[in-house]
Amino acid sequence: MPPILEAKDCVMRFSGLTAVKNFSCSLEPGHIYGLIGTNGAGKTTVINMLSGVLRPTSGEIIFDGKNITGVKPHKIAHLGIVRTYQNLRLFNKMTVLENVIIGAQIEKPYHLVTGILQLPRYHEKEKELRDKAMEKLEIMGVSEYANAQAGSLPYGLQRRLEIARILAANPRLLLLDEPAAGMNPQESMDLVEVIRRIQKDNHLTILLIEHDMKVIMSLCEYIYVMATGEVIAEGLPEEIRSNPHVVAAYLGRAE
Ligand SMILES: Nc1ncnc2c1ncn2[C@@H]1O[C@H](COP(=O)(O)OP(=O)(O)O)[C@@H](O)[C@H]1O
Ligand SMILES: [Mg+2]
Repeated sequence: MPPILEAKDCVMRFSGLTAVKNFSCSLEPGHIYGLIGTNGAGKTTVINMLSGVLRPTSGEIIFDGKNITGVKPHKIAHLGIVRTYQNLRLFNKMTVLENVIIGAQIEKPYHLVTGILQLPRYHEKEKELRDKAMEKLEIMGVSEYANAQAGSLPYGLQRRLEIARILAANPRLLLLDEPAAGMNPQESMDLVEVIRRIQKDNHLTILLIEHDMKVIMSLCEYIYVMATGEVIAEGLPEEIRSNPHVVAAYLGRAE
């Protein structure tokens, strides 16, 4: 099957620092990929390039056969690539439900003016958005908190809410930046189940950055390993686990 996403020799240079020296990947639709590596390896920078937050210094990103290098984040989101952030970016003062409704509007923005004039179409649209948002909250297991302030949720649930929010944008490719960070082992394993389910139900492609090797090894079908801005290994989970370079550079270290 042709890849849904390809990165070719992507380089990201900041003044005086090359955060990503050379990143290439090829993601086939409907699979879960892992991206691992020590802190500062360049993983988040890769997601920033793939989601349009950063324009690569050089290299190319192809999504669904189209060159999307340097395309703005909201346009990339419209095409179906959505991401979560390592540091959560929720609207803490808004309700859980409102956070997801906002997520859904990446997909089909409707004119604010329609809302102001309170036209019938606005009510219809609002109901549709609410129903859809509730459905995503249910999938992620946070619907009972729909009317709570997002900032009041325990951290692990805020991470789940962030995934509900990006699901509302009808994604095709999810880029998840450390979704299990701050979760206890049970919460992490529950998250694994949810990620597996949303992947299947929506036939999603997922690129997952995660430090929790149990999460990575239980979910990922193929893994990229980065160290100091470069992919030092890639392969099937069992190949990665037994690769001496990876063990030396990453797995052997106490986290
Ligand atoms: N916007 C930026 N400006 C300057 N340096 C950055 C920026 N973003 C990341 N870096 C640097 O790039 C390197 C890789 O960072 P990052 O991609 O966040 O690593 P990881 O996610 O693997 O921990 C780090 O040295 C980091 O300090
Ligand atoms: Mg990071």
